[in-house]
Amino acid sequence: MANLSVEIAGIRFANPVMPAAGPPVRDGKAILRCAAGGAGGLVSKTISTRAATPPTPNIAEIPHGMVNTELWSELPPEQWIDHEYALASGTGLPLIVSLGYSAEDIASLAPRIRPFADAVELSTHYIGEDAGPMIAAIGAAKAALDVPVFVKLSPLGREMVRAAEEAEVAGADGIVAINSFGPVLAIDPKTRMPYLGGSDGYGWLSGPALKPLAIRCVRDIARAVHIPVIGVGGVGHGIDAVEMLMAGASAVQVCTAAMLHGPGVFGKIARELDTWLDEHGYASAAELRGLANPAMPAAWAAGKPVVAEGPCNGCDLCASACPYDAIEVVEKLAVIDLAACARCGLCVTRCRRGAIEWVPEEPVA
Ligand SMILES: Cc1cc2nc3c(=O)[nH]c(=O)nc-3n(C[C@H](O)[C@H](O)[C@H](O)COP(=O)(O)O)c2cc1C
Repeated sequence: MANLSVEIAGIRFANPVMPAAGPPVRDGKAILRCAAGGAGGLVSKTISTRAATPPTPNIAEIPHGMVNTELWSELPPEQWIDHEYALASGTGLPLIVSLGYSAEDIASLAPRIRPFADAVELSTHYIGEDAGPMIAAIGAAKAALDVPVFVKLSPLGREMVRAAEEAEVAGADGIVAINSFGPVLAIDPKTRMPYLGGSDGYGWLSGPALKPLAIRCVRDIARAVHIPVIGVGGVGHGIDAVEMLMAGASAVQVCTAAMLHGPGVFGKIARELDTWLDEHGYASAAELRGLANPAMPAAWAAGKPVVAEGPCNGCDLCASACPYDAIEVVEKLAVIDLAACARCGLCVTRCRRGAIEWVPEEPVA
């Protein structure tokens, strides 16, 4: 078994998989279910100085993801402070308390949640694209708290790297990236209505469709700042966690997969990560951090696709998708015409059997 534990801003997590702020942690009981489901740390649903009243309906599953127009917690902060956090403490797992939004909100909430928090996570979702309000919120949290302050960034138009750098300079102890992406629109052709309520039916995208954007943001941020990054967006399997860690994350958070598959998904992802580490000769999850961050070597970029005879069953998936008509199936084997092949690489990922590999250019002797 590999060592799955990770340390983030001085806090030790038993494994790097935890819930993201959202319905899976909507109250104390739900948070306990995430702990029982194998999470290595806990995060609570974002609270603000008043309860949210989101439009309805506010969550829809769509192909490859989810759209939602939930806001922050629909429970008043007093209920969290008097009841929910106390339920969630005592699991032995670190609890990251998610707070929003303005500096005034944070100044009011932070001292009251302090007894329960091992760290806080500040959501920047509703404070606009200027760095000013985020910097002020970080200042308010740092002034009121002696625990690490993480900042959760939304993939808005603003430049994520600059936001992360500004958060670091303002004193943030870590970055959580990313929140759901939007606004987006999903329409139900049956009803001719958007799936989501609200004045425009807009929502925010999460789940597998979000993963490539999340991974790009995590890598860019991890390259730019010296504080740890927690990766969020489309993680549902151990291999997703592998990619997030390789992009530079120290741990991952999961929301959509836990909503669709239940709180056992945290332990499942951790076990799959463990198996992957064992099978690939890594002793710990921490070793993966940032492995995908160096620039692509020239020899790799100058490589070519090569078919391995054993696993290829001549299924034709690669040949029918090749944009350059460079692949033909001959006697149940894909054959690549390298003169026609434009090295686009599509066949490598199109193959369901791992039979086509990208082979780097041979070094010149
Ligand atoms: C229904 C729903 C509610 C959410 N509520 C919050 C929230 O209160 N605070 C927050 O920071 N993020 C919230 N998020 C965003 C998630 O924490 C997460 O950043 C995003 O969904 C991407 O991760 P995923 O693909 O694993 O879902 C919510 C997401 C969903 C789907």
